[in-house]
Amino acid sequence: MLAQQIYIMAEIGVDIEKAQQILDGGGLVSIPTETVYGLGGNALDPAVVAQIFSVKRRPFFDPLIIHIGNTSQIKELVGTIPPAAWMLAEKFWPGPLTIIFSKKEIVPDIVTGGLPTVALRMPNHPITTTLLKKLAYPLAAPSANPFGYVSPTTAQHVQEQLGDAIPYILDGGPCKIGIESTIISLQEKTPTIYRKGGISLQEIVGLLGPVSVLDHHATPLAPGMMGSHYAPGKKLYLGPIEELLPKFKDNPYGVLTLDKKYPEIPPQFQVRLSSTGDLKEAAQNLFAALRKLDAMPITYILAEPVPDVGLGQAINDRLQRAAVNFN
Ligand code: TXA
Ligand code: MG
Repeated sequence: MLAQQIYIMAEIGVDIEKAQQILDGGGLVSIPTETVYGLGGNALDPAVVAQIFSVKRRPFFDPLIIHIGNTSQIKELVGTIPPAAWMLAEKFWPGPLTIIFSKKEIVPDIVTGGLPTVALRMPNHPITTTLLKKLAYPLAAPSANPFGYVSPTTAQHVQEQLGDAIPYILDGGPCKIGIESTIISLQEKTPTIYRKGGISLQEIVGLLGPVSVLDHHATPLAPGMMGSHYAPGKKLYLGPIEELLPKFKDNPYGVLTLDKKYPEIPPQFQVRLSSTGDLKEAAQNLFAALRKLDAMPITYILAEPVPDVGLGQAINDRLQRAAVNFN
């Protein structure tokens, strides 16, 4: 059994040196990225990585992403680097893309859940980039939320949920993308998207040509692909609001839409992701919107899919996974 330290409340600040001290001492720090906040620790130290799993209450078989600050780190962690990986890294790093490689021995098995592959990402956030460049090791960092719950997009979200389990949260402001990275594997014959995210499918197809997209309802290769994930505490139903409303008439519900307003519903129970229907803004606001609905005195969340293009595909993916099925 791991002794887990209890903290009164994580401090929120912008002190990169303090973050480095904690990390060098084998502790965990929450780090801002352009996608969501991460829960970071030394990726090369199995005891530190074990702490990450324990704080997140994450099953040990669900592998973590390793975050790097320099492309030179790829060669230290990865066996073969396919040419397509260089193309992707050149075009999208630093940025919201995670690439799966075959791993080198130096990567502890606990990071990869025993898989022979490792997921790498170079995040795009000035504070975290500075920190990563100072560290002598890369950071393993899952999203800084309890396993299965909505990812945090502000330092305050992290403090609310993991504040008593970590000492420090580096504050980088609200996340600019707001939705997790796209995960791509080059291990298969055709490049395969494991998770839709901050880089759209169109952008990847534009660079590499055709890709396959793994269906998260199929047998999950990794638990992050499980059907139910990224979920608020309240039951969320997904569909055209007009069709859902009659079914929930007598129940307290809140409504989540891209930009539509419903005059028959009190405005305090309606959350819009973007008043102008902008999908980039909608992605930025998605997880905060789900948290807001979770805190309302309602029983159900009724959510409407957004147009299934560009970032809208990743938004719909998260809504589908947050949703319960009718049957
Ligand atoms: O945007 C992001 O990717 C954020 C920020 C903090 O970087 N991180 C993030 O981490 O979303 P996490 O742990 O919440 O999700 C990582 C996903 C999981 O679904 C995991 O199963 C998958 O990546 N993954 C990690 N390594 C893998 C591997 N070797 N093969 C397949 N899937 C892998
Ligand atoms: Mg996560």
